[in-house]
Amino acid sequence: MNKKTVLILACPLVLLLMSLKTAFIPSQGKKPLTDSLKRPAKFGFGRPATLQEIAAWDIDVRPDGKGLPAGQGDVKKGKLLYAQKCAICHGVDGTEKPGVKLPGNALVGDTLATSKPKTIGNYWPYATTLFDYMRRAMPYNLPGSLSNNEVYSITAYLLNANKIIKADVVLDAKNLPKIVMPAKKLFIMDDRKGGPEIK
Ligand code: HEC
Repeated sequence: MNKKTVLILACPLVLLLMSLKTAFIPSQGKKPLTDSLKRPAKFGFGRPATLQEIAAWDIDVRPDGKGLPAGQGDVKKGKLLYAQKCAICHGVDGTEKPGVKLPGNALVGDTLATSKPKTIGNYWPYATTLFDYMRRAMPYNLPGSLSNNEVYSITAYLLNANKIIKADVVLDAKNLPKIVMPAKKLFIMDDRKGGPEIK
C-alpha cells in the first residue's frame, strides 16, 4: 500500500470519527433544548388517589412513635413468626454462625457492652424505627405482607433476643416508643443549619 492509498482510506475514517464526535458529545455554549410543543392542561389519564390508597402508603413511624398503628404483639408469637418468615435468611436464632454466610444480616448479637457488630442491640437508635423498617421492607421477598400485630410480635421477639426487653412484655403503640435502645447514645443529633457546616 503506498502513501496515497493510505491517505485516501484514512479520509473517510476521520470524517466518520468527526461526525460521531458531534453526535455523541454535546457541544458547549449552545442553547439548551426546550419543548417545542405546548403541553395540554390535562393528559386525560389517571385519577386522584383514594384516601384508602393514600393510607396504604402513608405508614411511616417516627422515632417518637408518631404513626404507630393500633395493635399489639408478644415475644412468644414473635418467635414463631420469626421461625416461619425470617429464619431462612437471618438464621435460626438471628445470629451468624462461623462459616455460614446468611442471605440477610445477623439480627441478634453481643450486647453493646461486649462488642459492636451492627445488630439491632448494638446499632439501632430507636425501637420505633425497627418496627417501621420491618413493616415496610420485610420479609425481603414479600414486603408489606405482615399485619400490624405480627410486626409488634416480631419486634418484641427481636428486642427480647437482643436483651433489651423482658420476655413477658406485650408491645403496643404506647410502650414501644418508651424503649431506650442501647445504641442511642452512640448517635449525635444533626443540628446543621443548611449551610456549609461540616462535622
Ligand atoms: C429472602 C431473604 C429475607 C427474608 C425472608 C427476610 N429478610 Fe430481613 N433482610 C434481608 C436482606 C437481604 C436484608 C438487607 C437489606 C438491605 O440492606 O437493604 C435484610 C435486612 C433486615 C433488617 C435490617 C438489619 C440491619 O440491622 O440493617 C431487619 C431488622 C430484618 N431484615 C428483619 C427481617 C424480619 C423480621 C423478617 C421476617 C418477617 C425478615 N427480615 C425476612 C433478607 C431477608
